[in-house]
Amino acid sequence: MNRYKLLHFEELTSTNEYAKRYGRNNEVIVAKRQTGGKGRLGRSWSTEEGEAIAMSICLVPKVDVSAVSMLTLVAAMAVREALSEHEVMIKWPNDIIYNNKKLAGILTEMITEDNRIKTVVIGIGLNVNVCEFPQDIRNKATSMYLETGKTYDMQKIIDDILLSFAKYYDIFLKTSDMKLLKEEYNNSLINYNRLVKAISSGEKMTGTALGIDDDGELVIRKNDGTIISIRSGEVSVRGIDGYV
Ligand code: BTN
Repeated sequence: MNRYKLLHFEELTSTNEYAKRYGRNNEVIVAKRQTGGKGRLGRSWSTEEGEAIAMSICLVPKVDVSAVSMLTLVAAMAVREALSEHEVMIKWPNDIIYNNKKLAGILTEMITEDNRIKTVVIGIGLNVNVCEFPQDIRNKATSMYLETGKTYDMQKIIDDILLSFAKYYDIFLKTSDMKLLKEEYNNSLINYNRLVKAISSGEKMTGTALGIDDDGELVIRKNDGTIISIRSGEVSVRGIDGYV
């Protein structure tokens, strides 16, 4: 049984923006087209009709504000599981990778009042039947269609993601962290045991990613041997994102 109420729209500027304004707990906003979709770090994310999933899950979790960023990781696990017939991997914190290219991205946002959560919105953009990407992102982005030559029923994928998300979210809520999920997460992590370049809080570093810890932070053994963990930031993996 799906616990979520799906609200479908022909067109929205951004499902995340709509969800932040009007979304209620356990509602999922889905749009066929997004005219002003948003990615992380102020980037844009467009969605053309019939080509890609643009969905935002609205939640009001009883967790501390500091735990919310981990919901990106929970959502990434759900997307990976929904696509488990395919060799997709998670790139910390928010990308889903297929054959070394980005298939999906996740943008988690929240609205707080007096440091209490009013709404958390987990936006998922997944390239399903996209036939062609603009030249500038062609070597970095991919779709299910481009990787397999097949087209997919997007509603079925949405339902599968939500089924998996409910499962992982309930596990997450038991501890309000990644303690019970980190092993499975790390097994799907493309960064795992690989050389990474990271920029966190303005500091640039290179090292080997050792997986996430209980708080969902990426643990990195820097080239000088020191171990650090980063909560957010940009991480590029050797061989992906042009980091070679
Ligand atoms: C990223 O990788 O930068 C995150 C991309 C997130 C895109 C999705 S599409 C649905 C939802 N609505 C938005 O405006 N953004 C997210």
